[in-house]
Amino acid sequence: MSAPRVVLVTGASSGIGEAVARQAAARGDHLVLLARGREALDRVAADCERLGAASTLVTPADISDDAQVEAAVAEAVGRHGRLDVVVSSAGVVAYGGIDAVPVEVFDQVVATNLLGPVNLARHVLPVLRDQDDGALVLVGSVIGHIGVPDMAAYVLSKWGVRGLFRQLRVDNRDRPGIRFAYVAPGGVDTPIYRQAATYGDSVGRPPFPVDRPEKTASRVLVAADAPWRGGQVGLSNDVIRFGFTALPWVYDRLVGPLFSVVAQDLVAPVVRGPGNVLASRQELNGLRGNQGNPLLGIAANLAEVVRRTAGGRS
Ligand SMILES: NC(=O)c1ccc[n+]([C@@H]2O[C@H](COP(=O)([O-])OP(=O)(O)OC[C@H]3O[C@@H](n4cnc5c(N)ncnc54)[C@H](OP(=O)(O)O)[C@@H]3O)[C@@H](O)[C@H]2O)c1
Repeated sequence: MSAPRVVLVTGASSGIGEAVARQAAARGDHLVLLARGREALDRVAADCERLGAASTLVTPADISDDAQVEAAVAEAVGRHGRLDVVVSSAGVVAYGGIDAVPVEVFDQVVATNLLGPVNLARHVLPVLRDQDDGALVLVGSVIGHIGVPDMAAYVLSKWGVRGLFRQLRVDNRDRPGIRFAYVAPGGVDTPIYRQAATYGDSVGRPPFPVDRPEKTASRVLVAADAPWRGGQVGLSNDVIRFGFTALPWVYDRLVGPLFSVVAQDLVAPVVRGPGNVLASRQELNGLRGNQGNPLLGIAANLAEVVRRTAGGRS
């Protein structure tokens, strides 16, 4: 049996990051768990111990704060002397037009989703380069390849993550032992939608078809060993990307109405505010989002559209 690996996961206290941590624990790895909220990390650490982790280390840190990331990485390397797999999964969402989302919320989405992985790379790269071994996996999104209504900060941050991935590969060609991977999920049932900052007229939900976080997590761990097996999670991502690239006029016309029915909850009450963008709401973190059956969600949205249209006519 191979020696346990040292796996550092950001965003480890919820959703995809938590699923990655649990799967790495089940194969007996050492886990280093990073997010802002300590209690949620402690919960995941306890689960990981139970699942068979060789050890767990909880390193609360804000990924957008370079000094905190530096300290967390130093603590992990101080404990284990190396890093084998680093997974960048921490992320936040804001809904609303550019003129509706407050500047500090907009900027913090970009700081978390894009500058966060940059901070991570800045401090793990020297370790991986010294080893000439190890993997850095960036979790992006299908939204890093397209445009969608009222998600400008998220769209821009995820386009940037895709650029960062290629840039890291180009810059580190002199260290062929390091594996860089990029995994772009579509809709995944995690708490991120209920945690989102909301400044529009409806709340978000995972776009159909909706995957379980475990499916994305296994892709992440497979890609850490075999980076060419990363990329898009799900065929629907390729269909959407084809529409965006090959049929831009059709795409831009249809994406608004389709997005509102497929990727929003038109029935749920809208609570405006920054969600978890500016500070952790760790009590709402968890492995799953419990969003329910996506087809029933679409049916409820269609019924709401019919109701609003009929109301508009009367
Ligand atoms: N769910 C989807 O449908 C979907 C689709 C495509 C891509 N993705 C991407 O997948 C990744 C994981 O998303 P998820 O759905 O698993 O989200 P999630 O369940 O909301 O988990 C987000 C994690 O990130 C942490 N986090 C947030 N801001 C942070 C910060 N500034 N510093 C450190 N940690 C921070 C959160 O903990 P604290 O709040 O305590 O810090 C939490 O552990 C994200 O990059 C997301 O963009 C998700």
